[in-house]
Amino acid sequence: MIQKPRGTRDFLPKEMSERRFIENKMRGIAKNFGYGEVVTPMFEEQELFTLKSGEGIIGEMYAFEDKGGRKIALRPEITAAVSRAYVNEAQVAPKPLRWFYFAECFRYERPQKGRYRQFWQFGCELIGADSAAADAEVIALSYELLKCSGVRFTIKVGHLAPMKHLLSGLDAFAQKKVMAALDKRDLDLLKETLATLEKPELYEPLAGLTTAQTLDEVFKITGDIPDKNRIIETFKYLDAQNIPYVLNFGIARGLDYYTGMVFEGFADNLGAENQILGGGVYRLAHLFGGKDTPSCGFAIGFDRVLVSLGEFEPPKKPCAAVVCTPETREFALSVAAEFRKAGICAVMDLMDRGFSAQLSSAIKSGATHAVVIGAKEAESKTITLKNLETSNQKEMNISEAVSEVLNGIS
Ligand code: HAM
Repeated sequence: MIQKPRGTRDFLPKEMSERRFIENKMRGIAKNFGYGEVVTPMFEEQELFTLKSGEGIIGEMYAFEDKGGRKIALRPEITAAVSRAYVNEAQVAPKPLRWFYFAECFRYERPQKGRYRQFWQFGCELIGADSAAADAEVIALSYELLKCSGVRFTIKVGHLAPMKHLLSGLDAFAQKKVMAALDKRDLDLLKETLATLEKPELYEPLAGLTTAQTLDEVFKITGDIPDKNRIIETFKYLDAQNIPYVLNFGIARGLDYYTGMVFEGFADNLGAENQILGGGVYRLAHLFGGKDTPSCGFAIGFDRVLVSLGEFEPPKKPCAAVVCTPETREFALSVAAEFRKAGICAVMDLMDRGFSAQLSSAIKSGATHAVVIGAKEAESKTITLKNLETSNQKEMNISEAVSEVLNGIS
């Protein structure tokens, strides 16, 4: 038996109906914030991802040469692709641009529950606005998107400026090492890293940033820094929108392109792979041949949201099982067509089974109604509509049946 590739999944109709239900809710929220959908290629030039992150990232990607010898990668994330698309297609468009995407990404990772090699992100990018209001809008949108899914979560918000201020005496390589330790939330590793870099005095202030619970505590550690007012304003706007968050100035973010405000979301009921959201302020457009453009965005790990929610029953839409005999099939087909024309799902029996077998298979399939068409109904061009939840049934004409099913009565 041929198996699916490691780290991938098959989704059958039940799970897909759960996924689509949440996806559609999220689409509605993004649209209400004025974000329009974009789609970019599933594969890109490798350089798009290595330019900022270095060649090291190739080990974490599905990277290959195509038949023309081009170095290609399946996208490990979508922000770089969206920035490239912006530079290619929309640099002259009026700012700001509000874009969202729902698409799959590929990372060559060690698979486990909540960590896959093919996974979906619901993401938003706000391009061309450089303000506290922009940063707060993006965080608020991420909050509303997670909230609409029903997942229980906490959003942690920070900013890279205080950390970078403390690390300003270190070269870029050393800064990256320290930030990697902070990103892992591993204080022992942080202490060790600072000791190797002969900067043990930085341990206390950096560890202090990870535990600071108020902005006052943060600025007590750093003193006045140029981003102070922007940071204060961002939190003011979050409070004005009643967005719950936890301050965390120890957030470093794994990806290399962030420059300012950063935030992450965690599902309350997941274990190791509990990070369901990541984002922040970044600049990428200039790397891809465009003008330097302030941007801010995030991506939600859609699969992790679904793992956190567990199995559930999306609201049922009316669906009619058409129960007939070989002799009444022709009339039954025209009835099914009328139902579908009215936007109601209608499913025909294809197995020539008896009425009771058809009815029990209709109940098992989750149909809300049975449209029974025996010889009597075919003769009088009527149907017997049976509500499978209440077992009430009544003979009526087709248009009456359509409106009863649409109104959810009978
Ligand atoms: P990221 O933190 O690398 O950020 O990924 C965003 C989310 O995708 C994570 O929080 C996680 O929920 C989910 N995720 C990542 N890897 C996997 C995996 N292997 N399996 C399942 N879920 C996964 C980004 O990708 C940035 N592009 C976010 C962003 C947008 N920043 C600015 N704009």
